[in-house]
Amino acid sequence: MSLPRTAKVPFGGDYNPEQWPEDVWKQDHRLFDAARIDLVTVGVFDWALIQPAEDVYDFSLLDRIIERAGTQGRGICLATGTAAHPPWLAKAYPEVTRTDFEGRRHRFGQRHNSCPSSPVFRRLSTELARRVAGRYADAPAVVAWHVGNEYGGACYCELCAAGFRDWLRRRYGTLDALNAAWYTSFWSHTFSDWEQIEPPSALTEHWRGPDHTAFQGITLDYLRFSSDAMLTNFRDEKAAIRESSPDLPVTTNFMGMYRPIDYHRWAPHLDFASWDNYPPDDGSAARMALTHDLMRGLKDGQPFWLMEQTPSVTACRDVNPLKRPGLMRLWSWQAVAHGADAVLFFQLRASRGASEKYHGAVIGHAGRADTRVFREVAELGAELERFGPVSLGARTPARVAMLFDWDSWWALEISDGPSRLVRYQQVVLAYHRALWEAGVDLDVVAVAADLSGYDVVVAPALHMLKGDLPERLEAVAARGGSVLTTYLSGRVDENDQAFLMDVPGPLGQLMGIRVDEWDARGPEVVNPVRLGAGADRFDVEARLLFELVIPQGAEVLGTYQADFYAGTAAVTRNSFGHGHGWYVAAGLDQVGVSWVVRQVLARHDLLGPYPDVPELESALRIAPDGTRLLFLLNHRVEPVEVTARTGGVDLLTGDRAETGQSLRLPAYGVVVLREDR
Ligand code: GLA
Ligand code: ZN
Repeated sequence: MSLPRTAKVPFGGDYNPEQWPEDVWKQDHRLFDAARIDLVTVGVFDWALIQPAEDVYDFSLLDRIIERAGTQGRGICLATGTAAHPPWLAKAYPEVTRTDFEGRRHRFGQRHNSCPSSPVFRRLSTELARRVAGRYADAPAVVAWHVGNEYGGACYCELCAAGFRDWLRRRYGTLDALNAAWYTSFWSHTFSDWEQIEPPSALTEHWRGPDHTAFQGITLDYLRFSSDAMLTNFRDEKAAIRESSPDLPVTTNFMGMYRPIDYHRWAPHLDFASWDNYPPDDGSAARMALTHDLMRGLKDGQPFWLMEQTPSVTACRDVNPLKRPGLMRLWSWQAVAHGADAVLFFQLRASRGASEKYHGAVIGHAGRADTRVFREVAELGAELERFGPVSLGARTPARVAMLFDWDSWWALEISDGPSRLVRYQQVVLAYHRALWEAGVDLDVVAVAADLSGYDVVVAPALHMLKGDLPERLEAVAARGGSVLTTYLSGRVDENDQAFLMDVPGPLGQLMGIRVDEWDARGPEVVNPVRLGAGADRFDVEARLLFELVIPQGAEVLGTYQADFYAGTAAVTRNSFGHGHGWYVAAGLDQVGVSWVVRQVLARHDLLGPYPDVPELESALRIAPDGTRLLFLLNHRVEPVEVTARTGGVDLLTGDRAETGQSLRLPAYGVVVLREDR
């Protein structure tokens, strides 16, 4: 099973009419028509509404909401309503609230507040999903199920501790195996009874951050357990839905690069991926591209839904800037360019009260259609209507893959040493930016993904090596591909234990190097790295981490320029089979990273159509019928003019462009060129 069947890219979003009087609903739907909104996500936080007491279910209001949306011709993404539990539940069963890392049992309130291991929560949330699905499975308007909402956080209560022990028993079988995996001979941690095992906690001497302690083995497994515990909640609800709805696709909305949940472990259990895009600032174009690609990679390149984005402002941040005119449209098309088969907002009408009353909405408190935000939404709605179904199911023909690995992220960041300043996401973002600026179509994939179709595999900070990954990376190079990795890669096995061999462990043969020492320095310390050869040599800056590389056959393409290791290798390329292993041993600045990445891409002739036009993004999708859609997105406030590389029709204007003819993109402009066959 895959994506919901829709006639075009669904457009709409979260709709909470239970928050306002019914006479407003008429106005809502009139405005939805004006904005071409054809999909509403309903019921995300409806638990208290539909189950006002343990033995009372009352669907009367939800019936009317769903009935109305249906008769107005709108599709419904129907939530199970379990995203926040009601007060009566917390009062009757205090076990359902979470306990935090500091050991404090939370009182009732907010959301993300349910203990994933609580049998009561599990039973009642599953029952709610069962009843919602049972009641509405045959409602013709319902096109998809939305389980929970933005699963996340963690709980450290006694029930979770017990769940953790069960999880550990399943993973390790014996205490001997667990002791070996956790390396408990260190600091007298050897366990002789499962009951001695406790979750990591701030109530220990060496706690290091909001979710980890210096006891790395247990911390890493608790992160894995927490992600799995919430996955069990999702799966429970999905199974309950399946009892009455065998065919409708099920999803839950993810959050992109969200550290607490290993989305790769979740992905097989979702019928389609969806996610909520709330970039940190308006300079996030590259980051959003990466996150879209990561979400598309969850289901093997299958398109995803953009489940939420704000039409204008967020509310939960200290400062909530407004999306400039044109930006919402541009970012919506960016999502489509990267594989979104739905464009949805949070939210359609603004809450009147509570913490999101100032959150942006398609319809504000005054209910006007003559606002800038409504107008831009309505224009996009009309544009998507004209665009029709052409992009549905289209795939990205990527020949470059970037590996993304939650285990490596966790292991790197819970580690004591070499440096807390090296952050996994920052390393990934730097390598991604270089690829993005080069206009490369990219898949961001799990380390377990099939790599046999890629010419280039980029693996930034691949700290942990699991299973046969080293062999599969070697195979990429052996058949003529390029593998690029960086400092702090190949350090630990799946138990977070160092390999008893030279760094970078099992990647050593492929990289043709060994690393004997490494030097971590504060951000103020720069060691210049000289790149290139002959007259083309130039220096870039390197910071934070400097590995001392001893080539074992690799060619040196960059050298440190300072300190006692001046003149030694910082960037290397090794011939391996018909291809190459590239190693970057230090935290190069963006210019340096881009130079390395472009060297790799050039060998495979993989630069995008406009690699030298700043912030002009290009992305290709190929529809099931072979139609090639080239998306061009101008992220700058200045217009840009480029030459069409192939003839085609801009599906947003209907204008033809011939090969070699000039294409003009205004500030924040978008072209979707249907290329001639
Ligand atoms: C998240 C949630 C929504 C809403 C928005 C606000 O994405 O899923 O319920 O709170 O944030 O930005
Ligand atoms: Zn718990």
